Amino acid sequence: MLVVGICGSPKKERSSTRFLLQQALESAAEILPTEDSESDTTLLLDVSEYEIRPCTGCDACVRRDPCPESDEDDMRKIEEVLRKADGIIIAAPSYFTSVPGILKNLIDRSRPMKMQDQELKDKVFGAITYAGLRLGGQEPVIDLLNRYALTQGMIVVGAVGDPVTDGFFGGGSLQTDDGQWRSPKKDEMAIASSRRVGKRVAEIASSLKSE
Ligand SMILES: Cc1cc2nc3c(=O)[nH]c(=O)nc-3n(C[C@H](O)[C@H](O)[C@H](O)COP(=O)(O)O)c2cc1C
Repeated sequence: MLVVGICGSPKKERSSTRFLLQQALESAAEILPTEDSESDTTLLLDVSEYEIRPCTGCDACVRRDPCPESDEDDMRKIEEVLRKADGIIIAAPSYFTSVPGILKNLIDRSRPMKMQDQELKDKVFGAITYAGLRLGGQEPVIDLLNRYALTQGMIVVGAVGDPVTDGFFGGGSLQTDDGQWRSPKKDEMAIASSRRVGKRVAEIASSLKSE
């Protein structure tokens, strides 16, 4: 079993969303069965380490021709990783209440996977976000990511915890409720909610696999 986490921040270091994604993957790993002690159950893919060109809208993928951009960049390597995944978690910072351009490039460029017999169909999907502001566009980012997964035929799940106190997605903000600033490492709600996303993705992926 493999859960792949995609960190959608363009930052090479000190990414808040990467920290939360690691929490989610740790939590997923706690319950994922391993085939042998050598095989990894989780893998974190940083978009910042790849060249991902924008989609040019040429529709080669609709004609089931190879994407011409993939001859020039790293998208085939990413597709290879995604094909192996049972679960996928995307963690993205809020950039003007949407996702950073490099992650949107990945999303758009994954269209060939849809056109090639829905290669991402039935993979379990969870979303995490982080924003600077307390009210910084977290919900539109989660909504965008979940709709992306739905259009790829994935099985979208959320964080499931206490029905009264816990929200449905992983996320938080650098800004505290009283307007101060903090590190995501001090954002307990963001950590706990991200861990719940990881756990839920792993639980559902495992139960589907055992059916
Ligand atoms: C181009 C840009 C746009 C941003 N837009 C927003 C925004 O709309 N709302 C918000 O709360 N924070 C915004 N931020 C702040 C980031 O969401 C915040 O710093 C987040 O923690 C970054 O995550 P990362 O460290 O994983 O990259 C923006 C940051 C950048 C660089």
